[in-house]
This record gives sequence, C-alpha cells and structure tokens, in this order.
Amino acid sequence: MIAAADFNITKVERSKLNEMSLENIPFGKYFTDHMLEVDYEDGEWKTVEIKPYQPLLLSPSLAALHYGQAIFEGVKAYKDQDGEARIFRPFENFKRFNISAERMAMPQVPENIFIEGMRQLIELDKNWIPKHADHSLYIRPFMFSSDELIGVRPSEKYKFMIILSPTGPYYNVPMRIYVEEKYVRAVPGGVGYVKAAGNYGSAMFATKEAKSKGYDQVLWMDAFEHKYVQECGTMNVFFIIGDTAITPDLAAGTILAGVTRDSTITLLKEIGFKVEERPLSIDDIVDAYKAGVLYEVFGTGTAATISMIKELRYKDFLMNFDVDNWRTAPEVKQRMADIKEGKSTDRYGWMQKV
Ligand code: COI
Repeated sequence: MIAAADFNITKVERSKLNEMSLENIPFGKYFTDHMLEVDYEDGEWKTVEIKPYQPLLLSPSLAALHYGQAIFEGVKAYKDQDGEARIFRPFENFKRFNISAERMAMPQVPENIFIEGMRQLIELDKNWIPKHADHSLYIRPFMFSSDELIGVRPSEKYKFMIILSPTGPYYNVPMRIYVEEKYVRAVPGGVGYVKAAGNYGSAMFATKEAKSKGYDQVLWMDAFEHKYVQECGTMNVFFIIGDTAITPDLAAGTILAGVTRDSTITLLKEIGFKVEERPLSIDDIVDAYKAGVLYEVFGTGTAATISMIKELRYKDFLMNFDVDNWRTAPEVKQRMADIKEGKSTDRYGWMQKV
C-alpha cells in the first residue's frame, strides 16, 4: 500500500481557470491545472506525482503506441448543494479498471493510487467543477504500457495517469442511430467487456460511415448473426417495451458493464418498471415498434449519462420516436442528476466525498 505521504504534490503558480468560463464547454477539450502520474517498474508502483498538467515526453518505440496495451475509465464529479465536491461511484470504476487491466495483461492499480489519487487531485482542482445543469468534471484515469521495445509481449513498465476535464452536455440533442450489420464491436472471448482503448479506435470506421449517411452513432449487433443488440455507440442501450425495460445482458462478455447502466437499472426499478437483462433481437424490436409498444430507446454512459434516441434505422425500415412526449428516460435522468447534485437523498450511497 502507498500511504498518502507517498504522494508528491507540486502546485501550479497560477490557475488557468481565471482565463475561462465553465459554461457550455465541449466534452474533453479543456483540462484542469493538475494531473496525476505514476510509473510501474520492477514489479512495483513508484511515487505518485501530482503536478501541473503538461505534455509527456515519450519514445517512438513506446510499446503502447504499437500494440495498444492501453485502458481507461470515465468517472464524474459534481458539486452538491453546499458546494462540496462529490464523485459518482468511483469504486465501481476502480473495480472495472482492474478487470480491464487483467484482461490486457497489465498490472493491478492499488485502491490508494486510483481512489486516493483521484481524491487528492480533485481536492486540488475542485474549483474546476462546473455548477451548471448537465455539467460536471469528467475524470479520466488511464494506463498504458511504457516499455521502449517493439517486441510483442506484455510490457514490463506502465504509466498510470489521471486527468480532469470540465465538461458540458455530451449529446445535446436526441440521436439518430444506424443498426450496424457489417462491422462488429465485440465477440465472445474478446475484449468487449473491458475499457480497452482499441475498442474505441476500432469502432471509429463504422461510426464514420454511419455519420456519412446522416446518423450520429451505430447500434452494434452480435458478431455471428447480426441479430442481437449489444451497445449503442459508446453507450449501453435500453428499450422500453410495454411495462418492461430491457437491456442486453453481460453474460457473453461482449458488453461493457456500465456504471450508468447499473444505476439506470436501479432507478428504473425505483420508478416501478420491470427490468430484464437478456438477449434482445432486432426482429423483436421491430415487432414491438410495429405493435406500438416500443415506447422509448435510450443510451446510457458516463460521458452521455442518458441520451435519447429519436430514430432507429434497420435496413430500410425507419423507427421514429416522439421523444418530446417521453416520460421514462427524462425521469431516470432527472433522478440521477438530483442524486449527483445533492438535490435528493443519496439512498444507494453512490456519492463519495472528496
Ligand atoms: C464514457 O462514457 O465515459 C466513455 O468512456 C465514452 C467515451 C467518452 C469514450
């Protein structure tokens, strides 16, 4: 265990915050004054450095650049009604980070680096947490292999870092989604359930093609039959059919176990929905639409929180939704926001003090 004393903290002389506004900022473009950096070498984590946000000096032979041994997380911090900083379910991200690390043959990151490091970094940069609705401080922990060697094998050295980015809403408007039948995101036995950087890189071509057809994102389908729904863009996906909320189950290891997905399931049950985690085929979705019982479709993710889908295109069949009259997705989003911003009781113990 690394005690808090093993944190080496160097503060900026002057905050960049004086030069910018924290309202309506695009996702992931601006970063706070400080970052956390720690190296893994000779089988152990070295001293944690919290220091001014700055570029890294990396060798062109850096293993991560060649073979993609790289993972990350997305977490968010908010200000509660008393102006105190709170982090949303960071222990869930911590657990998932180490599941990703294991699958990518990378070392485990101890809790007091991931959680305590995050806490100390946010303590330093808490003035960067925006107070406006739909705004937050996005926390990006990540790790990559740092051997300077282009031999193909798990690296011996790694770097773990945390950077912080104040952010406004991710998707401002309801999305148009293209059901993807040619390209796949994940296969059983693969890495779909982990937050490996390569999952996002390899999704970009299909997304680019969908965008050229006028869509915002793709609905990923299973790799064998292109029949069962997996995820939507970078999000988990929910379908309200009749009185039941259905989301694909995690059993095949092709779907990321989203923290927002899990929180949405809890809140849907709180509202009174039956929730089913199970395989859901595109044919069943089309049938429900034709029968007039497919009421809502929405994505969930840390960055996007809850994002409504106003159009779903499967082959030449268009499913359109009157999102302005939806009740469930907005209700879940509001309940989640109220907990995050300390406007309602944190019944599930989701918010962690900084
Ligand atoms: C998140 O929701 O945190 C994500 O990881 C999606 C994207 C920003 C990569």
